[in-house]
Amino acid sequence: MHIAFVASECVPFAKTGGLADVVGALPKALASLGHQVSVYLPRYRQTKLADPQTVVRSITVPFDDTYRFCSVVTAGSSAGVRFYFVDYPPYFDREALYGTSAGDYPDNAERFALFSRAVLEASKVLGVPHVFHCHDWQSALLPVMLRTLYAEDPAFREVATTFTIHNMGYQGLFPPDILPLLMLPWDLLTISKMEFFGQVNFLKGALVFSDFITTVSKKYSLEIQTTEYGFGLEGVLRNRAATVTGILNGVDYDEWSPQTDKFSVAKYSPQDLSGKEKCKQDLLNAFGVTNADPKVPVIGIVSRFAAQKGFDLIAQIMDRLAREEMIVVALGAGDKPYEEMFQRLNKQFPNKIAVKVAYDNAIAHKIEAGADMFLMPSRYEPCGLNQIYSLKYGTVPIVRATGGLDDTIEPWDARTGKGTGFKFTEYTGEALLATVKQALLAFRDQSSWQTLMRNGMGRDFSWGASAREYGKIYDRVRQARANGSNTRESVGVAAHP
Ligand code: ADP
Ligand code: GLC
Repeated sequence: MHIAFVASECVPFAKTGGLADVVGALPKALASLGHQVSVYLPRYRQTKLADPQTVVRSITVPFDDTYRFCSVVTAGSSAGVRFYFVDYPPYFDREALYGTSAGDYPDNAERFALFSRAVLEASKVLGVPHVFHCHDWQSALLPVMLRTLYAEDPAFREVATTFTIHNMGYQGLFPPDILPLLMLPWDLLTISKMEFFGQVNFLKGALVFSDFITTVSKKYSLEIQTTEYGFGLEGVLRNRAATVTGILNGVDYDEWSPQTDKFSVAKYSPQDLSGKEKCKQDLLNAFGVTNADPKVPVIGIVSRFAAQKGFDLIAQIMDRLAREEMIVVALGAGDKPYEEMFQRLNKQFPNKIAVKVAYDNAIAHKIEAGADMFLMPSRYEPCGLNQIYSLKYGTVPIVRATGGLDDTIEPWDARTGKGTGFKFTEYTGEALLATVKQALLAFRDQSSWQTLMRNGMGRDFSWGASAREYGKIYDRVRQARANGSNTRESVGVAAHP
């Protein structure tokens, strides 16, 4: 089957978070199951292409004020996956992907509408897939356009769509007059379609118009149908409950394994953990911590700095945490208030928390390899990848039991020797502190700690099983489309509003 991925990030071309890891890895896994996979991405300034070839010279994307003309280049194939890039420098040759510290780019609606429409047009030249698989709000207009503007297009008559929610917190909200500018019909501005508290909601459009909706863990698929986690779209999802499912992300062990990591000073494995000590020393050096006792546990953090990630809890307890024998090393970048918060904590507790405000893949790898524990106290977490990488590196996760964090970490029980990490449920500083203390206590018994490390290192979260689950969904939506036009009914959902 031919699947076309449509997304705004993909390793190794452009990345701000886990979406890029997923779009970099899942297509490869699908290709190895025998599917034909294309990946469509914007061509950003950051996208480095060795030998780009233009494959579609000119695509017309009409806007109400003027026509825009973009092209499509390819970087060829890798591991059986073909990569295409929509090239429109006025929109994508910019400092960042979505915005700067001053805020989101004000024309993000136009940028990603152009992208979505260009993908539909390009596919007519490059090969119409059986299924478009779109991800997050940046490609959410594709299923909307397919079932509205392109509803009569014979090229797409049997084309099905699958949409994956990587994060409900980012929806693509724009004022209503964006609809005529993008030449989309006004009737989309109704509560059963894209209207959301007076605005146009791109994500909602995808949730209404896609044939099937997935998200990146089972637990998150249930959480987002509740008021607490649904960001206002819980009702829309509940209406579609029969066609919403959670498929846990895999990870790419070619990139994230202590046995092969190209950023580590030493390799190690469950059989021989000795290299990890060298990695720890190297990590402390990288953070300028030169006087630490190598026996003191190091707690790592690698994250986008955003409210989602729960770091306000650390600020609440840092004075008490600082009394413990441990060092926190934190790498992150993002929202200014969190960057400043970490820098402030570093000034207040210079021997207890070392901080790098940066986006740095090499340091991220060094933290995975060199830390003893990894902290993710997220307020919500659709899947989370770092805790899964941490397992493989014997870097014991301490997580809040939400979304994918809850699905991937099993609580450690010293009596039975079972479990892979430490979890807390209540979103409070107290709960976090108690759990970190529990981990620090467990660390003192190095022999049972090594059992804990090895439990995690032995878990397998590679993509195979999840890719097969996606394969079943593609089969289902494709068949439903082929059987008749009222697909959403035949895949088990209420008729379109
Ligand atoms: P999210 O997608 O919400 O940011 P994930 O845990 O799914 O969270 O994925 C985050 C990915 O981004 C991981 O691959 C992680 O290593 C990487 N990452 C996050 N912040 C940084 C950073 N400051 N420097 C380098 N890599 C980072
Ligand atoms: C999002 C989520 C994260 C998830 C990633 C990849 O950015 O915040 O939890 O792992 O997407 O699906």
